Parts: sequence; C-alpha cells; structure tokens
Amino acid sequence: MSSPKQYKRIVLNERPIRDFEPGTFRTETVPFDLKPGEAQVLVQTTWLSLDPGMRIFVKDYPSYVPQIQIGEVFIPLNILFRDLKCYKLMQGQGLGIIVQAGPGSILAVGDTVKGRWGMTEYAVVDDSAVQKLVIPQGADALDFLSTLGLSGMSAYFGIKDIGKLKEGELLVVSGAAGSVGTIACQLGKQAGAKVYGIAGSDEKCEWLEKELGVDGVFNYKSPNFREDFKKIGHVDVYFDNVGGGVGFILAEAPPHLLFFLKASLDSSSSYDYALRFPEAVQLLAAGLADGSIKRKFHIVEGGIEQAPVALPLLFSGGNTGKLFVHSS
Ligand SMILES: NC(=O)c1ccc[n+]([C@@H]2O[C@H](COP(=O)([O-])OP(=O)(O)OC[C@H]3O[C@@H](n4cnc5c(N)ncnc54)[C@H](OP(=O)(O)O)[C@@H]3O)[C@@H](O)[C@H]2O)c1
Repeated sequence: MSSPKQYKRIVLNERPIRDFEPGTFRTETVPFDLKPGEAQVLVQTTWLSLDPGMRIFVKDYPSYVPQIQIGEVFIPLNILFRDLKCYKLMQGQGLGIIVQAGPGSILAVGDTVKGRWGMTEYAVVDDSAVQKLVIPQGADALDFLSTLGLSGMSAYFGIKDIGKLKEGELLVVSGAAGSVGTIACQLGKQAGAKVYGIAGSDEKCEWLEKELGVDGVFNYKSPNFREDFKKIGHVDVYFDNVGGGVGFILAEAPPHLLFFLKASLDSSSSYDYALRFPEAVQLLAAGLADGSIKRKFHIVEGGIEQAPVALPLLFSGGNTGKLFVHSS
C-alpha cells in the first residue's frame, strides 16, 4: 500500500448537553504515522455504523461503557470491552479493509473486518480486536453492523427471550422503522403475533405496512395518536426502542433497550446474550438468504466527516432503517 500523507479522524470537541450538537465533534487531519506491530493490522475504514447508543460515549453521566474524554487519544478498557482496544476518538463500530498486516498477524491484506476502532479513516488494531467477515449468501457486509450485529441481536433476544412472544399475542414496537424495530416487527410476525408499529412519519408507517407486513401502524406525531392507540386494547409485549413514552424519551432515557412486558419492566442489553449470538445470527442469516427478513440501509455518502452531520438524524427521525456513513 502506498501510504497517504495524512488522514482524517473525528474527535470529541465538547460534551453535548442534549443529544449531538453542531460543536460536539471536530474533524482533525493528522499526519499518517500508522504502522502495525506484532499481531496487528492497519485497517482502512469503509463504513461507520451510527447508533443512538453512541450518546453514552460522550455524555456526562455514568454508563456501562467508558466515556470519551475531551482531548485524550486512547480509552481504557472496561469489563465489557476488555478485549478491544478502543481509541478515544468518537467510538462506534465500523467495517474496514486490511491494508497492511504486521509481523505474525493471522489476517491478510484485503480481508474485510468489523471492529470498534473509532471514527477514523485509518487505525492500527490488534488482530484480536477485529472480526474477519465471511459474508453469508444473501447478506451484505453491512448486515454485520445491523441485522447480523447488535440491532439483530437486540431484536431477536428481546422478542424471544425477554418478551417470550407467543403466537396470537399482540406486540407493539416503538421506533418500528429503525434498525432494531424493523427486525423486531418481522420476528414478531414470524412468531405468529399481531404486530403494531409506532413510527414518526406517514412514509415510515406506509413502509412498515406495505413492505414488512405489520398489521397496524401509528404515527406518534398524529394528533389522534393517543386515542387511536387506546383502541387496540390489551398489549402483551411492548418492544420499546425509544425508552418510555414516544415523543421525548430518546433524549433522556437510559440508552439501552427497555422492554415493557406483560406488566413487568425489563431493561436489558444484547451483550447479556453474547454467548448465544450464533443462534440468532444463524436464524437471521437464513431469513436474509430466503428473503423472509427484509432490512433497509440509510446511507450517508461523503466520508467520515459526514458522521457528525448524520448522527442527529437518529434523533430527528431522519433515518429509515440502519444508518451508515460511507467512508471509502
Ligand atoms: N441493547 C443493545 O445492545 C442495543 C443495540 C442496538 C440498539 N439499541 C437500542 O435500540 C434502540 C433503537 O436503536 P436503532 O439503532 O434501531 O435506532 P433507529 O431506530 O434506527 O433510529 C432512531 C429512531 O428513533 C426514532 N426516534 C428518535 N427520537 C424519538 C423520540 N423522541 N420519540 C420517539 N421516537 C424517536 C426516530 O424514528 P421516528 O421517525 O419513528 O421518530 C429515529 O429514526 C435505541 O434505544 C438503541 O440504543 C440497543
């Protein structure tokens, strides 16, 4: 590889008071001085995954992941991410291509990998911190950041284990046209439930009905939302992607999923089910292969500097399906 003279990365500029604000990040252009060491690789980022949970890396409150500090370059590892080297760049999962392999690396130039090396065009990462992708038939590499990644895992274990959704039950999914909600709606239909989706625009509601085949939809911005919603009667499982009551919650609620279930409340992370991810991946990959699981990618072009511009879409409802930034 002929190395570029410099590369770009996104760093935390100031802590936002609410969600992501225009001054939250800045793009730095830095000299290219990256060289993989023993059992390391140099990765060129191709795609960045943007997720509502990224707020917890930058906001000023305690959370289950280490916060990014302003001006720092490297992040200490906590128990959840103990095997990952996380740069104190703006974090997030991404896909990349290996452009240089260090001595003793088990990975090869040209391999496509997934990892959490942060919002940077290039990064040196340990072999052990990335997953080499073998893309199943009918799937796309981006599925590893969505349907076959944490979105799919959250939907699968939320519906199956936490919701224990049964045939004939009534499921309501908020944030239904988003990355997790899309999969939750479809798994609900597969389980034989009656599925209602809540979303923030008529276009999203139409897509949920026509493309995903949900039984009913509610636009929570409609003036009749509350009255209309009451008419559905008893709800067996509420799969909540927005953290409480629709309309205000993503800004304030804990950023992990909340599941209101059969009169109980369960607040869970998909990481709780990590040992069983292969079971979910197998089922969801089969659904992608036979077309029974559909998903939508919302792609923002223009390189990693578009990430700070694209992140607010998650809070304004500007995305339908999984939000990505195309890096290179
Ligand atoms: N536990 C885990 O490991 C895990 C993994 C992945 C995701 N999650 C969580 O799952 C949830 C969904 O994530 P996602 O990636 O699928 O995001 P997403 O649904 O693709 O994007 C967020 C969507 O939420 C809706 N929204 C935003 N603000 C809202 C508000 N104030 N009230 C109601 N709806 C609002 C918007 O759609 P509308 O147009 O419909 O408003 C927006 O498009 C998040 O809470 C995320 O943190 C958890």
